[in-house]
Amino acid sequence: MQTTFLQDDFGAILTAEPGDKATDISPETLQSLLTKHGTILFQGFNTTTEEFDVITDKLGTDYMNYKGGGYVRKTTGEEDGKTMLSTSTTLEKGKIKPMTMPLPLHAEMFYTDKRPLLLWFYCVTPAEKDGQTTIGDGVAIYKRLSQKWKDLLAEKRLMYLRSYPDGIWQNIYQTDDIEVARGFCHDSGMTTEVDADNTLHTTYLTTAIPKTRWGGHTAYINSAMTVVMQEGTDREKLSSIRLEDGERLPREMIKEIVDIQSDLIIELEWQSGDFVLLDNSRTMHGRRGFEDTRRNVLLRMVRDVAF
Ligand SMILES: [Fe+2]
Repeated sequence: MQTTFLQDDFGAILTAEPGDKATDISPETLQSLLTKHGTILFQGFNTTTEEFDVITDKLGTDYMNYKGGGYVRKTTGEEDGKTMLSTSTTLEKGKIKPMTMPLPLHAEMFYTDKRPLLLWFYCVTPAEKDGQTTIGDGVAIYKRLSQKWKDLLAEKRLMYLRSYPDGIWQNIYQTDDIEVARGFCHDSGMTTEVDADNTLHTTYLTTAIPKTRWGGHTAYINSAMTVVMQEGTDREKLSSIRLEDGERLPREMIKEIVDIQSDLIIELEWQSGDFVLLDNSRTMHGRRGFEDTRRNVLLRMVRDVAF
């Protein structure tokens, strides 16, 4: 097995040599590479989903589902605690379709306290063309940010706003009881309001620049850009973002962040049986758009680990 790196101190790549099995990699090696480099890419091991189960268990088995997430994802393996999530889907003319649009760099579920610490992406089938998963180091992004935006984001938190009409919140929160849905939101650190037409409004406040789990570095890591990109579309009615004083995020700051991210972004070229582990407190991820709907990249989320 060969170990190389994506950037200076970010992102380890483990490349299989003939006869290597990913299941032979020790938990200590995984832990050390993850905590130092924020990402581990496993290439060429031709890993099966059964082997993938064995490997992900090495770091912790507190797997999460996508309840309260912003999209609809199919779940498999939940019964035996091996929750795997499909790529996000959308309903189009009554049919479930995979979402194929590009996604900017974001952290997973930073619009709720119930967020995963680790993300495992596993490639069943890559897209014929494009569809790369992208990643970026939140610590490096923060370092490059102008002092005035560092100061602004230190002073004001982000405010994630959701408005789910009757019929939608039931899907998102997987219940028909609005009080159960509200209870879930309150347990996730949100405040809620319900309209006369049974629309559920939620508000969640959190910093855009938290500390990483390992090393305690300040990182620009949040879910802002996926919400910003919806501005001006139909989805804006469902989901929007402001600073905590209600102001929009300054356009100039967004532009700077987009520029820094496009400079630091790394594309992961998928092959069947490859997988990647991300520290969701440091590594942001996204996706290049694609057309080939056979693309199948699964996600397993770990809520927390013991180290
Ligand atoms: Fe994501």
